[in-house]
Amino acid sequence: MPEPTSDIGLIGLAVMGQNLVLNMADHGFDVAVYNRTTSVMEDFIKEVEAEQPSASRVHGHAELADFVASIKCPRKIVLMVQSTAVASTDRDAVDKVTDQLEPLLQEGDLIIDGGNSNWNATIRREKEYAAKGIRFFGSGVSGGELGARFGPSLMPGGDPEAWESLKPIWEAIAAKVDRETGKPIERFDPSNPVTLEEGEPCTGYIGANGAGHYVKMVHNGIEYIDMQLICEAYFLMKQLIGMQPDEMSQVFARWNEGDLDSFLIEITTDILQQRDPTDPSRFFVDVVLDTAGQKGTGKWTSISALDMGIPANAMAEAVFARCLSAIKDERVAASEVLRGPAEAVDFGDQGEFIENIREALYCSKICAYAQGFQLMREAQNEFDWDLDFGQIAAMFRGGCIIRARFLQKITDAYAEDPKLANLLLNDYFNEAVNKGQAAWRKVVSLAVLNGVAVPAFASALAYFDSYRTATLPQNLLQAQRDYFGAHTYERVDRPRGEKFHVDWPEEN
Ligand code: ATR
Repeated sequence: MPEPTSDIGLIGLAVMGQNLVLNMADHGFDVAVYNRTTSVMEDFIKEVEAEQPSASRVHGHAELADFVASIKCPRKIVLMVQSTAVASTDRDAVDKVTDQLEPLLQEGDLIIDGGNSNWNATIRREKEYAAKGIRFFGSGVSGGELGARFGPSLMPGGDPEAWESLKPIWEAIAAKVDRETGKPIERFDPSNPVTLEEGEPCTGYIGANGAGHYVKMVHNGIEYIDMQLICEAYFLMKQLIGMQPDEMSQVFARWNEGDLDSFLIEITTDILQQRDPTDPSRFFVDVVLDTAGQKGTGKWTSISALDMGIPANAMAEAVFARCLSAIKDERVAASEVLRGPAEAVDFGDQGEFIENIREALYCSKICAYAQGFQLMREAQNEFDWDLDFGQIAAMFRGGCIIRARFLQKITDAYAEDPKLANLLLNDYFNEAVNKGQAAWRKVVSLAVLNGVAVPAFASALAYFDSYRTATLPQNLLQAQRDYFGAHTYERVDRPRGEKFHVDWPEEN
């Protein structure tokens, strides 16, 4: 048996897997690769040999046993296979591959699931495989294809000792941000990858068992709402002002120079000026069908929020907005019979209204992130993790889809107060929302009056107004519950926890 030469192995050569392999090889690691369908591995190796400067560091194996034997001990094997498990008891390709690996591994070897696995499954796997001597680790990988290739944001969760052995590779391949400015260092050059000396890596130990996958999931939930908010800003400019995509592109380009500076605003700027490849007289965005797809992480985030009783309503709204968009035929039929407001309400000065939309977007975004971080705060209690929210926000600054200048403000807020209950209570965010709220209210009102749906703007505003209200109408709700179900109520003039019940008249 030849001496093992690879530093790490990777199984699952779909798009993300291939790009991670190349990223690791660029950073000087020898990577063994294996794929269930051997021809996929062979094609990949051919492509790599023809095109990639670090080709000599990628080693293909047709047999799983050879693949495992080629990796230096303690082995590190990254799984990038399709994960479908939702409940902790569901078994999918991740379990299947881990079960195949198990007899080939030695005590202390490490399996890293880099797919979008559900955290419940990761918690179960970590326990189950630990009992068999395998250290199972879950790591969120964000940033899409380009991120995986040149620097993703990596959210690892599992045994802290396992992290120590993975850390040098994960830190090397992660996205880097400038240590002074917090801005991503972006260089898409395989022969000159961004190094640790140049910047701070967008990775760090998140917590035990499923913590990494949970944080990655919330990242995706935030991504859903971030995208939806941008879509609503676009929709207002289109429907109320009647702007053309290229005009809107200029607006987004301007916004990208301020507080909203982010990857998603940047790509929106590009998308809106793109022409239809089949008919350049049209804008690309105008020929894209308005039905959104989804893979489920936004839904999981919302379900988790509901399970734990955390009001992440803007995130759920973003998922429902995709669902509503998907029932296209029904909407087209309804548009023939259901009428909106009879008269348009004027938005006033165009430049001022566009600025109002920007402020509404920023305020809504603050609320959405407040919800996401509240969710993670509750999850750490539920699952007994010890999350560092400032570090998590810092990790999101580069590589991932939600990377944005704004994240530095979140890191700063948690540096000031690691136990901050809600981002809105931090001075910077409190002031930002105070400053923008008149515009935010105007935008939501005008949208409502004109019949333009802005579910995320409106939901975020309702969250803000509810959160800042000391007495909500749920006093009446509790009275109703006591009336029909004898569910009892607490009194404003008695200690919390004391229960009362009124003998309501019998129904007649
Ligand atoms: P993407 O969405 O990027 O295409 P994916 O569907 O999440 O990726 O993952 C696909 C990868 O999982 C492929 O490498 C696939 O192997 P094949 O090329 O043989 O299809 C791998 N995969 C899926 N199910 C698997 C299983 N049961 N055992 C091993 N590998 C599996």
